[in-house]
Amino acid sequence: MSAKESTLPDYRDLAPEVATRFDRIRQRPVLLSVQNLEKKFGTNGSTHTVFDGITLDIHRREFICVIGPSGCGKSTFIRIVAGLDEATGGQILLDGKAVTGPGHDRGMVFQGYTLFPWLTVKRNVMFGLEMRGKDKFTAENEARQWLDMVGLSKVEDSYPHELSGGMKQRVAIARALANEPRILIMDEPFAALDAQTRCQMQSYLLQIWKKVDVTILFITHDLEEAAYLADRILVLGTNPGRVVEFIENPVPRPRSPDQFVEPAYLSLKLRLEELIHPPVEVEEDKLPMIKLTNAGDDVE
Ligand SMILES: Nc1ncnc2c1ncn2[C@@H]1O[C@H](COP(=O)(O)OP(=O)(O)O)[C@@H](O)[C@H]1O
Ligand SMILES: [Mg+2]
Repeated sequence: MSAKESTLPDYRDLAPEVATRFDRIRQRPVLLSVQNLEKKFGTNGSTHTVFDGITLDIHRREFICVIGPSGCGKSTFIRIVAGLDEATGGQILLDGKAVTGPGHDRGMVFQGYTLFPWLTVKRNVMFGLEMRGKDKFTAENEARQWLDMVGLSKVEDSYPHELSGGMKQRVAIARALANEPRILIMDEPFAALDAQTRCQMQSYLLQIWKKVDVTILFITHDLEEAAYLADRILVLGTNPGRVVEFIENPVPRPRSPDQFVEPAYLSLKLRLEELIHPPVEVEEDKLPMIKLTNAGDDVE
């Protein structure tokens, strides 16, 4: 918990419908339970604790965003959830079963474009389905349905290099969802896109999430993206990584740009800014004695 008192007012005062939504979410079964998770890396006899004591529950169909300073262990955390890396302590339960390795119950989308360049869009989506033993006809049909879902039916025979960045990520989402994961794990998936495409992708993702029975765990460094997408926002701190706050997003759904001037949004944004950019306190006499400017042009 943060030492500083939260400036986030009780959302019940701001938006009663949000309180009702969270009451409903809490009644859903827990999908992912993270219990006292610890990760240490050891090199040449010394160990570095990435994070320690991460404990949280995520309910079915929640949309969780994870934010925190660079290096606090966000990617490591979700790689462990995905089964791509191992924890050094604690455990993760998915639907009550311990996670011990990768599985098709978890889908991944990364920032970098990870499509197979030598396969067409449709073949990229079919790949996982065929790997799981579906015959070509079924895999093709299902791939087409997922491409329709992300609005890319028209480019099913194109190759990845023929697509824009946003389209590539939509194929990556279709490919991940085609395996019918219980949870979709996304590591800064829109960070490389231009601002306008990023906004479009956020709206697409919300539309898809509404239609598909999937829970989303989404890393971002963009506070506005977290405020727009998430039910709850997990704020991680650094040295060692830990849960600083797990914030219930007070902004009502459906969300739209005009809500960005509402008190619920502004109070959330302020709280996130406080947690991510705590005030820097430097003692005057510890400042280096370097003067690069003339007296009179000091900045505040
Ligand atoms: N394979 C590894 N070996 C050693 N240290 C690692 C390894 N992977 C990540 N780390 C360290 O773990 C910390 C967290 O990294 P990461 O999870 O990538 O952070 P974030 O995604 O929050 O920026 C960093 O200090 C990083 O150097
Ligand atoms: Mg990362």
